[in-house]
Amino acid sequence: MSIYSRILGTGGFLPKKVVTNRDLERMLDTTDTWIQERTGIKQRHVVSDGETCVDLAEPAARRAIDAAGITPGEIDLIVMATTTPDQIFPSSACALQNRLDIHGCPAFDIQAVCTGFVYALGVADKFIRTGSASKALVVGAEAFSRIIDWTDRGTCIIFGDGAGAVVIGADHEPGIITSCLHADGAYRELLHVPAGVGNGYNGALFVEMKGNEVFRVAVTTLGRIVDEVLTANGMERSDIDWLVPHQANMRIIQATARKLDLPMEQVVVTVDTHGNTSAASVPLAFDQAVRDGRIQRGQVVLMEAFGGGFTWGSVLLRY
Ligand code: COA
Repeated sequence: MSIYSRILGTGGFLPKKVVTNRDLERMLDTTDTWIQERTGIKQRHVVSDGETCVDLAEPAARRAIDAAGITPGEIDLIVMATTTPDQIFPSSACALQNRLDIHGCPAFDIQAVCTGFVYALGVADKFIRTGSASKALVVGAEAFSRIIDWTDRGTCIIFGDGAGAVVIGADHEPGIITSCLHADGAYRELLHVPAGVGNGYNGALFVEMKGNEVFRVAVTTLGRIVDEVLTANGMERSDIDWLVPHQANMRIIQATARKLDLPMEQVVVTVDTHGNTSAASVPLAFDQAVRDGRIQRGQVVLMEAFGGGFTWGSVLLRY
């Protein structure tokens, strides 16, 4: 009998501190109206002094474990997606594993920027399908505000911090139907942090982005993702109950929903209050819609994301 993975529980966590567009108006040459019209964002949560990515990941993970009705000791795989790890190494997944008092199971980070959680879920699903794990904790967490230049109005208005998590477990029925993962490094300089280990770059550790070029490629690519996932599974657009998109920008989300012929009532949107939390955006949005009762057991959900690399991908699942 085939093995599949199914989502057992979800969790999310946002740092307390909120930065509104009005706050940004006081710091930069921008306006609340401009930000809302171009991105749909009203506010974002950001870490306080001393608060790190793993500080956000831990409560999100604990909530997902509680919702799954299991104990941390039953977890036999941890995959954590982040672009803003607490340290270069050991991985944030190892730090999280230690906080949860789990010992011995594989734990590793995935770096696919805003597509990170979709990559992590796709990888964890394959561990479960091959029988290499039976209960996996999959986390997307970011202290993204730490790599933002808060004087650059082209980037700082967009991003925020947070963490989302799911626990997936082995089952005889899907669960996760398919995951499609892609990358094209030819685009890496359109959205990047040039700083690295000994690469000769001496500038600050900040995100640089060619916003309008990123926007154009994101819209076309996410349109292709929709065709890819439907064709691969012999499904119609009407088979999708919920779209849980990466929360990059309201206009990008609306374009993908149009491609799916989905009314916005079937699209989970958090970009207005969270901003773009990179690898945390999809699991945070998913957790919110599960907890408020919108996404129900048995419904079909399409998660999709696009990010630096470029990377992009989707996970199609029955909740
Ligand atoms: N407030 C006011 N004006 C701003 C501004 C801000 N926060 N940021 C940029 N501008 C100005 C620019 O300086 C430019 O002025 P100019 O015409 O005098 O030169 C003008 O607005 C248009 O700039 P442009 O960059 O073309 O704007 P845009 O319509 O493309 O919107 C983004 C900018 C960043 C909101 C938009 O490109 C975007 O959302 N891109 C996708 C980014 C993304 O999702 N990244 C993450 C992917 S995972």
